[in-house]
This record gives sequence, structure tokens and C-alpha cells, in this order.
Amino acid sequence: MKPYVLITGASKGIGKAMAELLAKQKTNLLLLARSEQILDNLAKDLMIKHEIDVQYLVIDLAKINAAETVLQWVQSHQFPIQALINNAGYGLSGAFQKYPLAQHVDMMQLNMAAPVQLTYLLLPILQQQPKGYILNIASAAAYQAVPGLTLYAATKSFLLSFSRGLQHELKKSNISVTVVCPGATDTDFPNRAQVGLKAQKAAARLNMSANEVAALAIKAMYAAKTEKITGFINQLGAFTAWLLPKKWIENAVAKIYQE
Ligand SMILES: NC(=O)c1ccc[n+]([C@@H]2O[C@H](COP(=O)([O-])OP(=O)(O)OC[C@H]3O[C@@H](n4cnc5c(N)ncnc54)[C@H](OP(=O)(O)O)[C@@H]3O)[C@@H](O)[C@H]2O)c1
Repeated sequence: MKPYVLITGASKGIGKAMAELLAKQKTNLLLLARSEQILDNLAKDLMIKHEIDVQYLVIDLAKINAAETVLQWVQSHQFPIQALINNAGYGLSGAFQKYPLAQHVDMMQLNMAAPVQLTYLLLPILQQQPKGYILNIASAAAYQAVPGLTLYAATKSFLLSFSRGLQHELKKSNISVTVVCPGATDTDFPNRAQVGLKAQKAAARLNMSANEVAALAIKAMYAAKTEKITGFINQLGAFTAWLLPKKWIENAVAKIYQE
């Protein structure tokens, strides 16, 4: 059986753009998200257009046992998996105390625990391929604290650090781990994150398209790059955050995200 690429958060935004790009390259796909109708339409569309196999699983990856459910689904169908793309994620914008604790825990589960659990459980399946890939979608927010997007930025710093550490551990194996850090990208992200008007206006000037980000991410994954920041402005931002005193950077970004 031709191997599959598994993408979390494949129904919209960057995940959907990666699915469409890989489908064009004749890659079989496993698509995961919560929106059943969207996944069903997307899977049928990609199968017809590109003559590939596309299967989907409707799942809330913020649920504690979600990764085990994914593993059972993969094992019961004996899907050979060549790449795991941990893309599903969301943010919560505004004051930390504005949101119920349960929403913060849900976000941490989706942005951090789900990628770790999926990586752990699916690694043995990836290792059966001649070459396997793990691609984690973090964020430019990973490079500094972002007051007003505090916990989200922390989850993405976690994912960046986890990805780099694991890449080092696996560097002599047949698995590569790539972390991609997009900046503002034109998707549904600001709506779910409840990003304020000021930040939305700032982002609109810098927005990359989901297709652009997806293309850079897939290229980085197949090139086995350890880390890729999408776009020159975002690369400059990460460099500046490394160079300048943390307080200066925090003051600057707080002006964008704090309402
Ligand atoms: N857009 C940006 O500016 C930006 C910048 C940096 C990093 N990122 C990162 O890029 C990744 C993709 O985000 P996006 O911008 O493409 O946002 P998006 O358009 O909101 O897409 C998010 C995807 O994640 C899925 N998802 C959300 N909650 C889920 C859950 N509990 N269980 C399973 N799937 C879930 C959504 O599908 P359902 O709603 O159908 O479940 C959707 O397919 C995220 O990790 C985000 O943090 C985005």
C-alpha cells in the first residue's frame, strides 16, 4: 500500500492548504479535525481530482484519550504512515484571566499534549517506512513571551523546544523532525483566538497566505530541515527577539495584543 501523510487540523487554513498541496503531489492522506462535513467534502474532492486515497477521522484532539483513538484507527486499517503533521492548534487572545481555566487547559491539550502523544504513539509506525517525517506547526510567537497571547505563545515555545530536542535524539535514525514557525497567516485563527481589532490590523499588513505557508512547510519537511520560520519579516522578528533585551520586546508586542 502507498504510504499516507497524516495531518491534524486538515479541515481549514494551513492544514487544508497542506492537504491540497500533498494531494497534487499524489500523496495519500489521512485528515483529522472536528468538522465532519468539511472533511467529507474535502476527502471526496481530493480523491476525485488527484486519484489518491484520502481517509478522514472526525476527532476532538483536545480530549485526553484522542491520540489513543487515532492509533486504534490507524492500526485497525493498517495505514502505513510516512509523515505525521501536527498542525491543529489555536490561541486565546486578551488577558489571561479573561478565559475560564478549562479553555486554557483545552488549548494546552491541543497545542502541546496532542502532538507529543501522537508523536509517541505513531513513531513505531513511521519507523517502519524507509524514511519518515514529523512536521510540527509552531509559531513566530514561540520566540518571545507575548503578553495578551501569553499562554498560546508559551505552548508554541514548548513545541519548538520539543521538536528541536527530538530531532537531535533521532538524527541518526530514519525519522526527521521539522518545526515550522509561521507568522500572521490569513486563516480562521484570529476569529477563534478572539484577536482584537488592533492586532488584526497589524497582522493584515504582514499576512502570508495559507498556501504560501503550506508550501514552505512541506518543502522544509521533505528537506528534513530542523526549523523554518516563514517569511523574511518573521525571521527578522525572531532575530530581534534574540538580540534585544526581553523587556523591550515584551513592551512592544504587548502594545499589539493587550487591549
Ligand atoms: N494563522 C496564523 O496566523 C498562525 C500563525 C502562527 C501559527 N499558526 C498555527 O498554525 C496552525 C494551524 O492554524 P490555522 O491558522 O490554519 O488556523 P485555523 O484556520 O483555525 O485551522 C485550525 C485547524 O485546527 C483544527 N482544530 C481546531 N481545534 C481542534 C480540535 N480540538 N481537535 C481537532 N482539530 C482541531 C480545525 O478544524 P476543526 O475546527 O474542524 O476542528 C482546523 O482544521 C495552528 O497550530 C496555529 O497555532 C497560525
